[in-house]
Amino acid sequence: MASYVIRGGRPLRGEVSISGSKNAALGIIPAAMLLDGPCRIENLPDIADVNVLFEICRSLGARIDKQSDGSVEIDPRPIHTSEATHEKARTIRASYYLMGALLGRFHKATLFMPGGCDFGTRPIDQHIKGFEAMGGRVTIEYGKILVEAERLSGEHIFLDVVSVGATINLMIAAAKAEGVTVIENAAREPHIVDVANFLNTMGANVKGAGTDVIKITGVPVLPGRTTYSAIPDQIEAGTYMIAAAVTGGDVKVRNVIPKHMEPLTAKLAEMCVGLEEGEDWIRILPPQDHLVAANVKTMPYPGFPTDLQPQTTVLLCLCDGVSRMTENVWENRFQFVDDLKMMGASITTAGHTAMIEGPAKLTGATVTAHDLRAGAAMVVAGLVAEGTTEVCEVRIIERGYEDLIGKLRALGAEIERKGP
Ligand code: EPZ
Repeated sequence: MASYVIRGGRPLRGEVSISGSKNAALGIIPAAMLLDGPCRIENLPDIADVNVLFEICRSLGARIDKQSDGSVEIDPRPIHTSEATHEKARTIRASYYLMGALLGRFHKATLFMPGGCDFGTRPIDQHIKGFEAMGGRVTIEYGKILVEAERLSGEHIFLDVVSVGATINLMIAAAKAEGVTVIENAAREPHIVDVANFLNTMGANVKGAGTDVIKITGVPVLPGRTTYSAIPDQIEAGTYMIAAAVTGGDVKVRNVIPKHMEPLTAKLAEMCVGLEEGEDWIRILPPQDHLVAANVKTMPYPGFPTDLQPQTTVLLCLCDGVSRMTENVWENRFQFVDDLKMMGASITTAGHTAMIEGPAKLTGATVTAHDLRAGAAMVVAGLVAEGTTEVCEVRIIERGYEDLIGKLRALGAEIERKGP
């Protein structure tokens, strides 16, 4: 079991450059499997989830070659099967985007029912609703989902739930369907816009991404043969911004899109965290005064991102007064709270809300990374806690953060990795 050992109490100082967006990359790579020609993708993060997705796509027959400049050449033309049943497909939820891609390519797709981080049930009923509306017949048996369609035709789909995954999956499936597909009540996250921009760069006709109504006019051929660069990772950027604020540091977070960070920067300003902003960077300034308690509610974009909830909960532990964190997206995303209480936090949870009393004095302990972002939150807590913190099961963190150790060390953190 691999772990990080962190000696807390050192303010982070310096600059950190943000990698490409994990959640954009995990949509763009499957979308590339739909193309009728090769493409080159730049700024993909070098993280476990992306590398596992590459392995799954290669098992279908796609050619995927990493270039010396970090870009990736992808050629899906050799794909010879509509069955994405590579063992590793069970381990990453984003493999389910291959449903939309293979359905679009072969009018057929077979996958394992998706896995992923465990913070409550993670249904795919909205994906299935959309595929069936477009003419797909869905059967689920032996832990696998099979979708097949004589023809894939554009339809008007009203999502019952604002779902990032369903929005991306249906956008991919609709790109080559016959006719026009309209997705109503679509999710609006930046990574959805990025997947739409990738598809359009490759020859698709997707309009309205970033709003709650996306209109996709199916095209017969997606030529590809061009290059696309993924956007920076909004959640990685937010994690470093919060780590800087938690440690009372002075950090410039480079290669960000400030607009994407607004839900967080607005809340940090409310807590009296000092910020400066440039065209593609945000600087967290050393504290001028005490941090002030705040109330945070996670919502689909442009609301406060659920993927920054655990990290922000750590920051709220250091704020003067009683804060409230309400998790509106996932059923059970407070599993990390018990570990945080072991470190001295004063938090009580009731259903979807956590009441956080601060400021708490956090001290080091041995804790566990329950899921990707909870793990990141444990690292953030360890950076400020007095003494030594050991975060166990860190492979789950490495699914979504590129070179976390290197980037934190460059900011002055005392952190080392132990174990395989
Ligand atoms: C994506 O998950 C992200 N993962 C998650 O980030 C993120 O937390 C989530 O969006 C919300 O922003 C990737 O992009 C790979 P959803 P996804 O479909 O697509 C319900 C991370 O840390 N729902 O938007 O699975 C669902 O139960 C990961 O990077 C249905 O009811 O999330 C949830 O309550 C963790 N039926 C809500 O919608 C469905 O068919 C949002 O889920 C689909 C979803």
